[in-house]
Amino acid sequence: MKITILTLFPEMFVPLYGSIVGRAVKEGKLQIETVNLRDYTEDKHKKCDDYPFGGGAGMVMTPQPIGSAIEAVDPEHKARRIYLSPKGKVFRQEHVFELASYEHIVMLCGHYEGVDQRAVDLFIDEELSIGDYVLTGGELPAMVVADCVSRYVDGVLSPESLVQESFSENLLEYPQYTRPVEYRGLGVPEVLRSGNHAEIDKWRREQSLKVTKAHRPDLLK
Ligand SMILES: C[S@@+](CC[C@H](N)C(=O)[O-])C[C@H]1O[C@@H](n2cnc3c(N)ncnc32)[C@H](O)[C@@H]1O
Repeated sequence: MKITILTLFPEMFVPLYGSIVGRAVKEGKLQIETVNLRDYTEDKHKKCDDYPFGGGAGMVMTPQPIGSAIEAVDPEHKARRIYLSPKGKVFRQEHVFELASYEHIVMLCGHYEGVDQRAVDLFIDEELSIGDYVLTGGELPAMVVADCVSRYVDGVLSPESLVQESFSENLLEYPQYTRPVEYRGLGVPEVLRSGNHAEIDKWRREQSLKVTKAHRPDLLK
């Protein structure tokens, strides 16, 4: 899979390469490219934003550098093109599964007051929001989406790591424990050390339901 990120701030993406995703990129399981929209502007001062028609605070990203960059990275429109936006559908695990099925994803990061609507209307397939709050730019949301999708690229994680996770079967994950057996007076549930796998599965299922009911009852509806 290839993920192309269009941004005015490519230097913000360093953290994406720090851990599991970075290793997958190094090993060639995944390709991530950040493209500076400024490289595509036809403005002689390299400007990529301007004042909004109708007035109002802040600047709006102009459509030309966005259109030219998207056409350069995905000339035949084979990729899934996403604009990260607080106005988009809220990004959920079901989007992760869907996006993981594409060979190429292009993500557009807005900044300032956002992007000229014509760039969205002409070049974008889907708008995604990472939650009901407003960030300064689409760079952190793009990293969130890239990280989540990368986990489902073949070979990035072991297949066992991806089963019984939070949000599989609309449940949150059961509590996890590791060594030591006792920490500050708190022990590990006896069943987890029993070696009885049927009982362990039963306990985990019950705990999943309990946690989901307490933290996210909406998932059980
Ligand atoms: C300050 S925001 C613009 C907000 C816009 N004026 C509004 O009220 O909807 C700048 C950029 O950050 C990104 N952004 C902000 N919040 C986001 C969110 N919750 N999910 C995804 N992207 C977001 C978008 O790319 C957006 O264009």
